[in-house]
Amino acid sequence: MLDLPTPLSLWHSDTQTPDRRGPVPTDSDVVVVGAGIAGLTTACLVARSGRSVTVLEARQVGAGVTGNTTAKFTAQHGLVYDSLGGDRAGQYAAAQVRALDWVAEVVAAEEVDCDFERRDSYVYTTRADRVRDLAREAEAMQLAGLPAELLDDAGLPFEVAAAVRLPDQAQFHPQRWLLHLAAQIEAAGGLVIEGEAVLNVDERDDILLVETTRGEGDSRETRTVSAGHVVIATHYPILDRGLHFTRLGQTRDLVVSGPVAGTPPAGMFIDVDDGWSLRTPPGEPGRLIVGGGQHPPGTRPDQDQVFTELAEWARETVGLQEVTHRWSAHDLTTPDSVPYVGRYLPGSTNLWVATGFNLWGMSNGTAAGHLLHDLITGDADPAQAELMNPTRVRADMVPGVVADQAAVGKHLVGGLARAVASGDDAADLADGEGRIRRVGARAVASYRDDDGLLHEVSAHCTHLGCVVRFNDAERSWDCPCHGSRFDINGTVLNGPATEPLAPFEG
Ligand SMILES: Cc1cc2nc3c(=O)[nH]c(=O)nc-3n(C[C@H](O)[C@H](O)[C@H](O)COP(=O)(O)OP(=O)(O)OC[C@H]3O[C@@H](n4cnc5c(N)ncnc54)[C@H](O)[C@@H]3O)c2cc1C
Ligand code: FES
Repeated sequence: MLDLPTPLSLWHSDTQTPDRRGPVPTDSDVVVVGAGIAGLTTACLVARSGRSVTVLEARQVGAGVTGNTTAKFTAQHGLVYDSLGGDRAGQYAAAQVRALDWVAEVVAAEEVDCDFERRDSYVYTTRADRVRDLAREAEAMQLAGLPAELLDDAGLPFEVAAAVRLPDQAQFHPQRWLLHLAAQIEAAGGLVIEGEAVLNVDERDDILLVETTRGEGDSRETRTVSAGHVVIATHYPILDRGLHFTRLGQTRDLVVSGPVAGTPPAGMFIDVDDGWSLRTPPGEPGRLIVGGGQHPPGTRPDQDQVFTELAEWARETVGLQEVTHRWSAHDLTTPDSVPYVGRYLPGSTNLWVATGFNLWGMSNGTAAGHLLHDLITGDADPAQAELMNPTRVRADMVPGVVADQAAVGKHLVGGLARAVASGDDAADLADGEGRIRRVGARAVASYRDDDGLLHEVSAHCTHLGCVVRFNDAERSWDCPCHGSRFDINGTVLNGPATEPLAPFEG
């Protein structure tokens, strides 16, 4: 079996991310919350249109999913075009093409050092009973204006039953791209401020009041920024009043990377059934980045085992010889596979959201930035705005919503039952082990670090109270209900939670 290193994404391992902590202004034309690809693209475009822009980021640029992605930039997204059909498929394709064209233009014009490389994109299946679905997808893509073709060979080191190829897509280094966007925002007079966790946005007629905090416990400081527009680009929207948590599912995806035997395939590939994903890292032809092991976050506490299964699949299937990097993150899914980009609530005039990129946030997140810019400046194409309208209700979305909510209900009850069934003693916890234990009526998240020190916090997620579960690979507490994650001392790593897990003092 291949050894597994400490989790750290390739993109963070070879890039210095400068510290951008600094004073927060009292007002800004536009405040963007979150410095991932959606937030920074929006902010860059809005800053270039002459408005004052402030980006508030809880952690660091790229600390979220964008710094932990596989960064294939393609208009090909599984089998989405066949499921959308007709005008919606055409609109969806147009948004992706615009996003890719814009990035390619900026990379060329500004000589961006982000390893942008053109690659063909492939969706493949190894199952004979899926060939018909891929044929339909190829046809739907062609009708949507994309030059897709159906093949019976994808040039992979194993046989496929069929593949759909979309030529001339791209891959890049996402962290370097984000750092370029941040620098361009600043060059256009905007601000990117790290270490600022936004807690709330108060809507007062035309003015929005953004409540932001820095630090924790006694050193916590709270400030307010007034803004004409606010964009919530925090991956999972942090303001519950949009009820997005009732309409978003989540998929955790694991990645391993390392040298392979022989010459790896040059395209970007994804298995339509299992989500196995392959691409080469920038400038390193003898290596592969391999994604897979998809599951809802918080439902597989044995993350090391899931990584092992992924690495073994890659060893047997594509000749992975060593795992030099491994990392994971989760992305948000919508019932109709179209992101939510636009007004936060039906009546909102200046509060906006971008979320639900369905594991295709390089192009969808960039497309979201363009649409939000157009909405803020009043130039949006109505058909694009309608396609991605976050408040849309469509009959084809209902089964997905019902299934997601049923899963949340199961986790809520199951988590409490597990806590009740677990013991109330932490004495037998081994070093590096985490467990939920019951203390009276409370569930406590107990973790013993490698020096034998016990860390204990409340196990009740500060979002809506589900019981968190230990993630043994990243040593974090993960919530199975909507994907919030906390470090072993309770600090928020992923929303929608904005508050840390409560301290537990025995
Ligand atoms: C393993 C994996 C592989 C993927 N591969 C691909 C791929 O090959 N191609 C593709 O197109 N897509 C891919 N995706 C999907 C894509 O990476 C995501 O859709 C995209 O990065 C999401 O971008 P974002 O800007 O919405 O979120 P993020 O990048 O997570 O940015 C949100 C930011 O908001 C900040 N934030 C959160 N809460 C607050 C708060 N309260 N106050 C202030 N800031 C806050 C976070 O710290 C974070 O920096 C992949 C996803 C995963 C998980
Ligand atoms: S209860 Fe919603 S993320 Fe935990």
